[in-house]
Amino acid sequence: MTNLTAPPASGGTAALIDGRAASLALRDGIAAEVARLLDATGIVPGLAVVLVGEDPASDVYVRNKGRQAREVGMTSFEHRLPDSTSQADLLALVARLNADPAVHGILVQMPLPAQISAEAVIAAIAPEKDVDGFHIHNAGRLATGQPALVPCTPQGCLILLRDRLGPLDGMHAVIVGRSNIVGKPLAQLLLAANCTVSVAHSRTRDLPALCRQADILIAAVGRPEMILGDWVKPGATVIDVGINRVEREGRTRLVGDVDFAGAATRAAAITPVPGGVGPMTIACLLANTLAACRAQTGQPPTLPLPGDHP
Ligand code: GUN
Repeated sequence: MTNLTAPPASGGTAALIDGRAASLALRDGIAAEVARLLDATGIVPGLAVVLVGEDPASDVYVRNKGRQAREVGMTSFEHRLPDSTSQADLLALVARLNADPAVHGILVQMPLPAQISAEAVIAAIAPEKDVDGFHIHNAGRLATGQPALVPCTPQGCLILLRDRLGPLDGMHAVIVGRSNIVGKPLAQLLLAANCTVSVAHSRTRDLPALCRQADILIAAVGRPEMILGDWVKPGATVIDVGINRVEREGRTRLVGDVDFAGAATRAAAITPVPGGVGPMTIACLLANTLAACRAQTGQPPTLPLPGDHP
């Protein structure tokens, strides 16, 4: 129950789940571990981030990832390639990064231009350096309950839920969205945490009725304010993964996949957008990079990761 602030100004009763505070606490712990590793071994974790093209949102994410890696004492390697880059050239870069002992984590920012297969690129990343947790090796290990590098956004959701609720055993979690990046790995993590999990998607029948059964409601669809307030069971915990840019009254605003004001009148707790899940994603990327570095250099693990089963 650490990451709570006062009820939202919207007039609702829900507590805010403060992802900024939780991500700061996680990054502080990582920075301390990175300093300890340097002291004991001289090893500095290295994170390589690859951006193909000039998508402005991706550019902001990549810059933030590099900056935050440096802030916790890691080395950041940024590779910016033109939009016209061929798949062969990107695969050649991935091969060089796989072979580079100073690089412990590799992240290729998605989406990629049309001429490049994301699947082929993900498959080419060495599984032990796959700090996105997207490689089939890591997805399969997560699905079968073995320690794995776990996708960062689902990890962040699980940390926020555990901070807020403690043990999640027996709770009904409804995840709206079945992407490989969020919905599916989050379902695996919540199953491992002994939740009863429903994964809803565009063909789900009577989505509002299913959502109203959720003790934990997670929205990860990428559609602005699609989840309405009266879909929320009174007392539920709501995690909003969506980050949508919308034009309102002549200004660009960020909104989630949940109608925040409506949901806040019924939920016990809810993540805001921005300031909820978003900041946790990069913090979990840094946690994965530290874990990958320790594994590659023969150091025992330190920080427990959500993919580790008790
Ligand atoms: N694009 C949006 N989110 C992500 C992410 O978590 N990882 C990568 N590689 N690309 C993304």
